Amino acid sequence: MCGIVGYIGYRNAYPILINGLKRLEYRGYDSAGIALLNGETTIYKRKGKVSDLEKFVESGDISGTLGIGHTRWATHGEPNDINAHPHLSMNGIFTIIHNGIIENYTSLKSRLTDRGYVFKSETDTEILANLIEYIYLKGNVSAELAVRLALTKVVGAYGLVVLCNREPDKMIAARKSSPLVLGIGEGEYFVASDATPIIEYTDRVIYLNNEDVAVISRDELVLKTIKNDKLIPNIQKVDLGISEIEKNGYDHFMLKEIFEQPRSILDTFRGRVSHDKASIHLGGLFSVEERLVHAKRIVIIGCGTSWHAGMVGEYLFEDIARISVEVEYASEFRYRNPLIDKDDIVIAISQSGETADTLAAIQLAKDRGALVLGICNVVGSSISRETHAGVYMHAGPEIGVASTKAFTAQVTVLAMMAILTGYKKGVLEESRYRRLIEELSGIPEKIERILTHDAKYKAIAEEYQNAGNFLYLGRGYSFPVALEGALKLKEISYIHAEGYPAAEMKHGPIALIDRNMPVVVIATNDKSYEKIVSNIQEVKARNGIVIAIVSEGDTIIRNMADHVLEIPEAMEELTSLLSVIPLQLIAYHIAVLRGCNVDQPRNLAKSVTVE
Ligand code: G6P
Repeated sequence: MCGIVGYIGYRNAYPILINGLKRLEYRGYDSAGIALLNGETTIYKRKGKVSDLEKFVESGDISGTLGIGHTRWATHGEPNDINAHPHLSMNGIFTIIHNGIIENYTSLKSRLTDRGYVFKSETDTEILANLIEYIYLKGNVSAELAVRLALTKVVGAYGLVVLCNREPDKMIAARKSSPLVLGIGEGEYFVASDATPIIEYTDRVIYLNNEDVAVISRDELVLKTIKNDKLIPNIQKVDLGISEIEKNGYDHFMLKEIFEQPRSILDTFRGRVSHDKASIHLGGLFSVEERLVHAKRIVIIGCGTSWHAGMVGEYLFEDIARISVEVEYASEFRYRNPLIDKDDIVIAISQSGETADTLAAIQLAKDRGALVLGICNVVGSSISRETHAGVYMHAGPEIGVASTKAFTAQVTVLAMMAILTGYKKGVLEESRYRRLIEELSGIPEKIERILTHDAKYKAIAEEYQNAGNFLYLGRGYSFPVALEGALKLKEISYIHAEGYPAAEMKHGPIALIDRNMPVVVIATNDKSYEKIVSNIQEVKARNGIVIAIVSEGDTIIRNMADHVLEIPEAMEELTSLLSVIPLQLIAYHIAVLRGCNVDQPRNLAKSVTVE
């Protein structure tokens, strides 16, 4: 969480920083701020969005070719002007922006207070600014050394950029557990939490590793560790187009990303499913295929939507590859002394590849000798680098905070993995193998058809936009979809919603059902169809409102439900890729109708880099 951006070069820094912050706003939007170092340091910061900051700066001095910017997701201290970044050290020598958490901030603060330091904000970041300044003045050392020494005293996570007004032609960037990318231009350099603020200017980037420090002036970039070991920069080409990170005519990124799914799924299996639709190849797993084939147990870890995709993965691997699977919240897994050893395979799922709990869980699994595979969207992200092998989702940038196309890409990857493993293991017979691949290849076209019915989803949204609660029910492969549908609704519309296995309804949630309760039931044509029909009757018997997602041509549920939304028939194993689409759109339209900020829901952030 929190987005950071920095620029040094020959252009005016301000517009680069403001546009960069707009691109990074998905990482947090509690406050925003900018510092320009142009002889002296000028800081503008404001509670609220980047647009509020822009208005605030309107008539201010924005000259300068060196500057840093920050958009905040609050951890320490409420979102207000004072807690907004950048933070200035007490004597005004250092200015800092920071993404992460300084865990030992209390002890650092009391030591600095004993030495006469006074703090204006409640943030952990200001402590770091003062610690650097204290070391700088006390030790009479360079700004770079002061930063490196200060970082050796810090426990926690940081992606940060520091300016020193006594060394006004450089910026110092460092990272540990929070992502940071450097952009390499001609006579100019960029720093950012991800590549999106940079790609307009250069496609040459360096992904910093943990405890790397970059000392950047206009004509030189020196990369070293915090212990002062020099590093040879690994410059990579970033493959990301501007149009991929713009709304392209859609009202919201979320809507664009929902509508992108036919293409993003195609991108996920491009080059992996053969042209004749007869085989699957996953280059990233080639070296570990044998291990997968002989695996006795797989543990899938993730958070949020990625965890829901992991649940679909459990059904897929058990059903298709006959391997026992457990799905765990990364945050629970890492704190409960799990039974993991070298025979286990852990699959970590993360759109951003930066989620702190997932990263820590990966470390724990690696420490215990497990083989850890990653399913990530962001190329070069921490999780993709920390795992032994993996498969990129290639869904393109997902900017809306509520995850949509990442879910379908994750399920697509998991399906490919399960199909490949089951086939190689000899438990998936040739005909089902081929049918599954054929079905997977046809999913984009089926999603395309679902998207043409958007007006129906909007009509449902109009009718139920004022409901206080929603219940989502599903069985088997549709249960994780029910969870995901409920999550979408609550995160962007702030309506309370619960996802439940349909059969469990009678053990509790049925008590909630009355004539005001919309119940969304995923009731497609699969082996529990008759059971779910009974569940629908149970809801109707209590006057609940049933909105049913059914397979095309269904006649039975049509006579019981208040609304039926048809989706194309598909093999049960892959239906989740279809049934989730109407739920995404219903949530989207309800949120819009309620006047909610769809792309930036309150209190949330896209990339959760705190634990
Ligand atoms: C946040 C986002 C969710 C996402 C979750 C996991 O909560 O708002 O959309 O599913 O983090 O993120 P990851 O990047 O690890 O998939």
